[in-house]
Amino acid sequence: MEKLKITGGNQLFGEIAVCGAKNAAVAIIPAALLVDGVCRIENIPDIKDVRLIIDMLVQLGARVTYIDDTTIEVDSSNLKTCIAPASLASKMRASYYLLGALLGRMNRAEVSLPGGCNFGTRPIDLHEKGFRAMGANVEITDGIVYAQAQKLCGATIYLDTVSVGATINIMLAAVLAKGKTIIENAAKEPHIVDVANFLNAMGANVRGAGTDVIRITGVEKMRGGSYSIIPDQIEAGTFMLLAAAAGGEVLVRNIIPRHMNCLTSKLEEMGVNITEYDDSIRIERNGKLRGTSVRTMPYPGFPTDLQPQIVALLSTVDGKSTVDENVWDNRFQYVEQLQNMGADICVSGKRASICGQKLHGAQVTATDLRAGAALIIAGAAAQGVTEISSPHYIDRGYSDIERRLRSIGVKIERIFEAD
Ligand code: UD1
Repeated sequence: MEKLKITGGNQLFGEIAVCGAKNAAVAIIPAALLVDGVCRIENIPDIKDVRLIIDMLVQLGARVTYIDDTTIEVDSSNLKTCIAPASLASKMRASYYLLGALLGRMNRAEVSLPGGCNFGTRPIDLHEKGFRAMGANVEITDGIVYAQAQKLCGATIYLDTVSVGATINIMLAAVLAKGKTIIENAAKEPHIVDVANFLNAMGANVRGAGTDVIRITGVEKMRGGSYSIIPDQIEAGTFMLLAAAAGGEVLVRNIIPRHMNCLTSKLEEMGVNITEYDDSIRIERNGKLRGTSVRTMPYPGFPTDLQPQIVALLSTVDGKSTVDENVWDNRFQYVEQLQNMGADICVSGKRASICGQKLHGAQVTATDLRAGAALIIAGAAAQGVTEISSPHYIDRGYSDIERRLRSIGVKIERIFEAD
């Protein structure tokens, strides 16, 4: 059995660079299916979810060439099927982007219902609503989504809930559709803008990404081109929270400081010293921090994907804090693991009430990707040794995590034990 072993309690110093954004990469790589030509995608993170989506493209008939660890070229000129490999698609959430991309390119798609982290019900009704409004017939039978259209036509689609996945999927379906598509109440996350920029760099006509109304005018064809993915807002935030929890002074490089505003202001409120540069942020924490209240919201609000990590930090901070989860129904399952480390957290519905404590090392389990990141933060701040089981969840979203964290002083290693 594989585990991450962390010996906590020491301060962190040095520099750490952020990789390309996971949630942009897992949308942009399938978006390359829409392009009739070769597209070069740079700054892709070397993580499990990206390797999985690349495998799926290859099985659909795309030619994918690795130029180096973070750059690929995708040639989708000769796709051979619109049926996504079920065994792979069901392993990750972002496989739903194959629906929009294949429907847009081939007018037909068959993709298993997506897997991914379990935060309660994760419906795709808004994706379906968008495809149907554009003229597609969408049915779900035995866990497979079948979508088909004669020719997709532009439509005005209002999203009842702000959904990252539905916004991107509808953009993907719309870029080659006939006429104009308008997405109202669209999500505004940085990776929505990144996907739109990628599509435009390949010849699409997408306007308004980053606002709540996105207008897409369908084009005949998209040509090849080159595009570099933005830095990962969530990885950057994880490193900032880690530095705040362990203390010391860390420069987080390759960051877009504007994307971090919601976190930067929270950390400053708590007493962390933050200095912003053009593409890096310095975190300094020497003294004691104060508790605070956090509410997760769609961007530009506080991201739900940093919720477990900030709960880990607040578990170590003197005083009382509250964290309200407003995006997912059930995203506090990991709390029990922090409680094993001595955290005083009480969950009632969508609110976690936290009373800061000194944490101690313990045997814990990563229950999902960001929960795993939270346990790393708690482990680095705790006294003693923490061993985190199921690190494969962490590998889904963080590349080469032990080596990178060791470079700023985290005492972390991967250990293998006989089962
Ligand atoms: C994406 C991210 C995930 C993040 C989430 C919210 C990827 C691959 N994953 O997930 O890490 O936690 O955004 O920032 O980018 N909803 C519906 N119907 C739908 C779709 C969503 O009701 O058809 C609801 C969901 O139940 C949830 C809310 O909308 O309450 C937001 O979900 P959404 O933004 O779609 O999340 P994902 O795209 O799945």
